[in-house]
Amino acid sequence: MVKPIHKAIFPVAGRGTRFLPATKILAKEMLPIVDKPLIQYAVEEARNAGIEEFFFVTGRGKVALVDHFDHAIELEQALLERGDKKALQSVLPPSGRVFATRQQEPLGLGHAVLCAQKFVGEEAFAVLLADDLILAEPGCLKQMMDVYKEVGGNVVACENVPRERTCHYGILDIAEDDGRLARARGLVEKPDPAEAPSTLSIIGRYILQPEIFRHLEKREVGAGNEIQLTDSLAKTVSGIPFHGLRFKGKRFDCGGKLGFLEANLAFALERQDLGPRVHEMLKKYR
Ligand code: G1P
Repeated sequence: MVKPIHKAIFPVAGRGTRFLPATKILAKEMLPIVDKPLIQYAVEEARNAGIEEFFFVTGRGKVALVDHFDHAIELEQALLERGDKKALQSVLPPSGRVFATRQQEPLGLGHAVLCAQKFVGEEAFAVLLADDLILAEPGCLKQMMDVYKEVGGNVVACENVPRERTCHYGILDIAEDDGRLARARGLVEKPDPAEAPSTLSIIGRYILQPEIFRHLEKREVGAGNEIQLTDSLAKTVSGIPFHGLRFKGKRFDCGGKLGFLEANLAFALERQDLGPRVHEMLKKYR
């Protein structure tokens, strides 16, 4: 029996300098893809995978992000009176419980996850990076949950990247691979292309066992002078099975402008109310 998963961590303390000036005041995770903030896609994906407790690791200037997942009583009342059920549904907090803490210094993704240690306790848990937006049905985390029920241990979402891009990702050293699921014998954070053990890279979705905290607690600094989640995960590989799932779906790197713009187009094209008109509009730009 694998440990059930009810909790998810959303590290959202990053500064989002690539989107200045939009992110001078606004959290980058609040930037909309069509009409919904990036972070809400991640929260809905988690909810649809069975998550009931949502924990935001925020930073300075991110108060609005936490407010976004609270009730907005006057707005809800107005939408109710207007009979606009669809809009009302879209602004309600996720069913379950919402928590937040602050990562007071930007010390890395591993440190952000460590900030949630008390919240997680000794349970298995999920981590979602909102920058990695995934268009998939069922959602990426749900696909991972189904695999986790079979293989247990640590499970991450994976995708192959061009070799020259391995220096932007956590990379798997593959022991076994059936084309969908790869078991890793090691992991390297942001290796030089020439030294990368493969091109199979971690995308921002993790299912983790609480043992990771024994390593994160040591606060060892790795690539980019940050406390890296990948480095602590690498230390668990000998004792806890580690699998990378090539999920079904399309991932957009919304941490950069091109990925963000492409996601806006792809999500708009998927929508019944917008898709055909966006398609027509795009013809003007060929
Ligand atoms: C983080 C992780 C990296 C992972 C990536 C996925 O890097 O450290 O292992 O591959 O997310 O998006 P970041 O993008 O925060 O530099």
